[in-house]
Amino acid sequence: MNANPFPYVSSPNDSICNAIQALIENDTFELSDTNAGLCSYLFFDENALTYSLRADNQTLTLSHSFTSGKNKHRQQYGGGKNQPLPKACGLDKHPNWTIFDATAGIGRDAYVLASLGAQVTLCEQHPVLYALLVDALNRAALDEEVKAVVQRIQIIHGNSSDVLNAMPETTVKRPDVIYLDPMYPDRKKSAKIKKDMQILQYLVGHNTQDGLLFETAYATAINRVVVKRPKTAKSITSIKPSYNVSSENTRYDVYVL
Ligand SMILES: C[S@@+](CC[C@H](N)C(=O)[O-])C[C@H]1O[C@@H](n2cnc3c(N)ncnc32)[C@H](O)[C@@H]1O
Repeated sequence: MNANPFPYVSSPNDSICNAIQALIENDTFELSDTNAGLCSYLFFDENALTYSLRADNQTLTLSHSFTSGKNKHRQQYGGGKNQPLPKACGLDKHPNWTIFDATAGIGRDAYVLASLGAQVTLCEQHPVLYALLVDALNRAALDEEVKAVVQRIQIIHGNSSDVLNAMPETTVKRPDVIYLDPMYPDRKKSAKIKKDMQILQYLVGHNTQDGLLFETAYATAINRVVVKRPKTAKSITSIKPSYNVSSENTRYDVYVL
């Protein structure tokens, strides 16, 4: 067991919670609170697995729902395949392309792509974020309106570089598109950083392996790699993108293979 196990609250009747608890006890999740002064744990809040983080004298909580709030709104009114993200991923012209979202996070982008008909595999390295995604997808699978979307989604816990590197040795078909949304470069603390992104920054920090992930994606995708960047940020690689698709604050660098 970890010397400093990650604190959690479980609801004994919930199978997801039991599964997470088993993973924690097996050390698969290796959850420990290494940041001095931070208090964090997982609990069930009205049936949604929720992560709570107490830091800087405030408590932040994070849980997901694909059937309410922003995800539902974006699905209903988002603008279909002409939105910048699906367009960058080629869904407007190639509705049957498969997509591997190598930086799943809270699953918003992947859900948009799946709700437009794409088969999407999400891969998330952080156990808490992975657990929250599994919980949200399991709840969404019970909803008649969105269960077809959920059936197009597969989720993997692990490092995407490892998962992609292992593909040639397995029977898994390489994805047509690999989508990367690395953590944005450091920004000064500002009210503009939304709460869910603040939690992501506490949990994940800033990955220094983005270049390696890009190289692996570039060597593995069949048709294209798409990288989400802040509109004015540098590309994550010295390879020149084939073109960009831009929205108000965001730029998608598209690398056609
Ligand atoms: C900015 S967030 C992505 C947000 C996501 N696009 C969404 O719509 O919710 C970046 C996420 O990528 C994950 N990540 C970064 N590098 C990864 C890797 N090599 N393998 C798996 N996950 C990775 C981080 O843990 C973090 O959760």
